[in-house]
Amino acid sequence: MQTLLKLLGDGRFHSGEELGLVLGISRSAIWKRLQSLESELGISIQSVRGKGYRLAEPLNLIDPQVVAAPWPLDVLFAVDSTNAEVMRRLEAGASTPFAVLAERQTAGRGRRGRPWVSPFGANLYCTLGISVRGGAKELEGLSLVVGLAVARAIQSMGVDGVGLKWPNDILLGGRKLAGILLELTGDPADLCWVAIGIGINVNMRTADSIDQPWTSLCQASGSMVDRNRLLIELNKELDWHLSRHREEGFSASREEWESLHIWQGRQVSLSTAANTVVGRALGIDEQGALRLEVDGVERRYSGGELSLRLSDDT
Ligand code: BTN
Repeated sequence: MQTLLKLLGDGRFHSGEELGLVLGISRSAIWKRLQSLESELGISIQSVRGKGYRLAEPLNLIDPQVVAAPWPLDVLFAVDSTNAEVMRRLEAGASTPFAVLAERQTAGRGRRGRPWVSPFGANLYCTLGISVRGGAKELEGLSLVVGLAVARAIQSMGVDGVGLKWPNDILLGGRKLAGILLELTGDPADLCWVAIGIGINVNMRTADSIDQPWTSLCQASGSMVDRNRLLIELNKELDWHLSRHREEGFSASREEWESLHIWQGRQVSLSTAANTVVGRALGIDEQGALRLEVDGVERRYSGGELSLRLSDDT
């Protein structure tokens, strides 16, 4: 399927006979493969009598040659989840840092056990594997810093109105644009390895199964976005923000994070599995914990399975 896609990638018409010759299979076998491209990968193929087949829309696949990441980057055609793949490689002793990206995830993971919708060639699904020495202190605010790097990368594509929702959602016009999922292995009190998973909705236009308001860069701007360019910006920002976090800790990023915080000063409700508290979002502290003013008293909340919403009474 990959070879067939590469051949069609030029956007021109190719006859079934020509494709069959290159792949060494019959015209009817080509037709079957084209059908799988449509059914499995959601790619639309135009078929015109006398001309052959071509892609209905241009493909914008990730080209590792163009991207030249600051760490080894492996681009896969498909994988269950880039986080799962990075965790497997970390557990097998891969040296860090390294990144795995996929054109498609068949079991993309979101926060709180949700699936992450990951159609072929549409968005960015990327996981960076790093090692962290020094225990929990060194991990403080890591996911918030990653959120900041993702927001900066998106801004550098000329997109206005990107904001952060604590702890690490990236929103555009109040809708979810990107998400981050960190997974850990090793000893969180000493040397541990972290899979930093990032999903950015780039050129996705439809997705029936997402159960929250979402958007993509393409949906918001009305035009397709170059995923290679976005990935270059993302790598650059990640490299810069992660270095600052490693050298100076989270406090160095705190003010910048708050400047992009969409609900700074607003009335919000924070839910855990057990209860909900309502208060005014004061910001975040030096460790990345959320500061809420509840009944005139400041309270702090960190990480875990907390869910933040704008309160109805604002
Ligand atoms: C969220 O729910 O907000 C987090 C979504 C994280 C999705 C990304 S896509 C790349 C990486 N691989 C996964 O399976 N999940 C993360």
